Amino acid sequence: MRIVITGASSGIGRAVAHACAKDGSHLVLAARRLEMLNEVAEECRAHGALSATAIRLDLTSHSDALELANLIEQTPGSPTVLVNNAGSAVFGEVLDQPWEAIERQLTTNLLGTISVTHALLPQLGPGSMIINILSIAAQAVLPGAAAYSAAKAGAHQFFKVLRQEVRSKGIRVTNILPGATMTPVWEGATWQPDPSDMMTVEGLAATVLGIIHQHPQQSLDELTVLPIKGIL
Ligand SMILES: NC(=O)c1ccc[n+]([C@@H]2O[C@H](COP(=O)([O-])OP(=O)(O)OC[C@H]3O[C@@H](n4cnc5c(N)ncnc54)[C@H](OP(=O)(O)O)[C@@H]3O)[C@@H](O)[C@H]2O)c1
Repeated sequence: MRIVITGASSGIGRAVAHACAKDGSHLVLAARRLEMLNEVAEECRAHGALSATAIRLDLTSHSDALELANLIEQTPGSPTVLVNNAGSAVFGEVLDQPWEAIERQLTTNLLGTISVTHALLPQLGPGSMIINILSIAAQAVLPGAAAYSAAKAGAHQFFKVLRQEVRSKGIRVTNILPGATMTPVWEGATWQPDPSDMMTVEGLAATVLGIIHQHPQQSLDELTVLPIKGIL
């Protein structure tokens, strides 16, 4: 199996990379901070990955997505699993947000995720999976997260439609809607839930690994994963 993880330099993506490494797969790790990504690749090789390659990817550049697709073509392993995890959030009420912050969240979380998927889709076939780390914000009404929520909701719907288009090709698409998880995404936020109430990256990574190993004749279409206390 070859597993492509976007946003593997930090947080949930890094934990997913570690979990997949222990499982013995070929990994392709993508994000902007290549130095951190190379460290994660080294950790993955030490944890048992058959191979781990880091590549710089900025979700806002479709040519980066095409370069990622080229690299995957040269990477051993089959089928291909794409974990669309990379994303960013800027919290604050719409009135207080500069236009650039709103635009960046939509460009990164919505268009960027679609761009990577579109570039890789020709290489996916029977047994392949697309696993999307979206957010409970795709469905819940969370003041202070309008642009982030719009991007995640747009991606949620995009992948629902794509799922129907690729089912007959044996490709499965899972949308995961996680709640608050303790990662660097909360750094600098004016408010954050009590860290002890949040989910851990290891817990979420175990969930992703469970999806990768779901029964080959089943499709886990959608999964909401929340902290025990719910939406924090
Ligand atoms: N933490 C939560 O509470 C929570 C809850 C629900 C959903 N999520 C989702 O989980 C995913 C991972 O977030 P996280 O919490 O693990 O945060 P994180 O630690 O900040 O990780 C975000 C990852 O996305 C990458 N990234 C951000 N902008 C990018 C861009 N323009 N191009 C390429 N890569 C980019 C970052 O890498 P570089 O900076 O190196 O590019 C980093 O590896 C996100 O999609 C987030 O929306 C998080």
